[in-house]
Amino acid sequence: MALYPKLIHDALATVRYPGNGKNLIEAEMVADNLRIEGMKVSFSLIFEKPTDPFMKSVIKAAETAIHTYVSPEVEVTIATESRQAPRPEVGKLLPQVKNVIAVSSGKGGVGKSTVAANLAIALAKLGHRVGLLDADIFGPSVPKMFHVEEARPYAERVDGRDLIVPIEKYGVKLLSIGFFVDPGTATLWRGGMASNALKQLVGDAHWGELDYLVLDTPPGTSDIHLTLLQTLAITGAVIVSTPQQVALADARKGVDMYLNEKVNVPILGLVENMAWFTPAELPENRYYIFGKEGCKRLAEELNVPLLGQIPLVQSICESGDQGTPVALDSATITGSAFMQLAAAVVRQVDKRNIEKEPTRIVQVKKG
Ligand SMILES: Nc1ncnc2c1ncn2[C@@H]1O[C@H](COP(=O)(O)OP(=O)(O)O)[C@@H](O)[C@H]1O
Ligand SMILES: [Mg+2]
Repeated sequence: MALYPKLIHDALATVRYPGNGKNLIEAEMVADNLRIEGMKVSFSLIFEKPTDPFMKSVIKAAETAIHTYVSPEVEVTIATESRQAPRPEVGKLLPQVKNVIAVSSGKGGVGKSTVAANLAIALAKLGHRVGLLDADIFGPSVPKMFHVEEARPYAERVDGRDLIVPIEKYGVKLLSIGFFVDPGTATLWRGGMASNALKQLVGDAHWGELDYLVLDTPPGTSDIHLTLLQTLAITGAVIVSTPQQVALADARKGVDMYLNEKVNVPILGLVENMAWFTPAELPENRYYIFGKEGCKRLAEELNVPLLGQIPLVQSICESGDQGTPVALDSATITGSAFMQLAAAVVRQVDKRNIEKEPTRIVQVKKG
């Protein structure tokens, strides 16, 4: 028998793409590169994404349809194309981002998110292009701290890929899992889902050109940290702690994680949060309720800079809850504390970039 294109097309029209229920011809999934040589047939199927979940089964079904409706003798070769360009490989993500700063702590509740948010705003106020990625997948706080709880980022076509456009507020580009799932949903996820979601916020987002991408990381040392280290070359880590002994012990663990020889992320320095309590009516007074200068001593011991000391004041807590972080007003004591912190971070990043090689991402073990 002689093969001709219509025979093949008619056979392919019997195969439905499960994603939309249309047949492969209707869905315009058959590329116009059909070649017929004797009993040999080759063509490409076009999928939206290179990771289409139905790809294998659709290829199989197309082959079977040709064997059933045309002839079992046909030798079928099917290639695939995708309308969407693939995500760049890990290690080549975010080439336009100059510095990635991980804000970390050993313990939860020490003010990591508060420091990350205010640091990002303060860096933007200094004139830098800044992004803030809320990597605390199980306890996101960026939507609330920036008062963008209702924000729903849309996608934009960039270089052949649909990319999530970060939300902009206070001069900072923001992304958080909190924009996409209800609070509580992520806590039901298995580890792999959380790390995939995080990879999308990094690799499938249009961060554009940034001087600093600040990461608000989850407490402690978790799978999420490992995902970050395997996805992004982190320029340096900022470790937040309170002066309490327990917090300091955990801060040390955080430092150890970054300095681990397989990780090799430089520590930019420590931030002592809740360094002392200052009541609003007595702004000159300092009460060292969690102990005095615990972080300063730890910084000396570890031979890393103490980047800043942030007092415990009610306004920091309230403004965080209201979505107007204190760094917005640099005239206040707390606002200026964060401006100084930002300046210290910039200095340390510059120093680090002169003295040390760029960070390499942690390689995923194979096998
Ligand atoms: N310096 C501070 N003064 C007053 N409240 C603070 C300060 N730092 C953080 N807080 C409050 O403490 C709580 C925990 O801070 P958060 O930044 O969410 O911690 P983490 O991200 O480490 O869990 C929040 O309610 C925050 O507003
Ligand atoms: Mg937090």
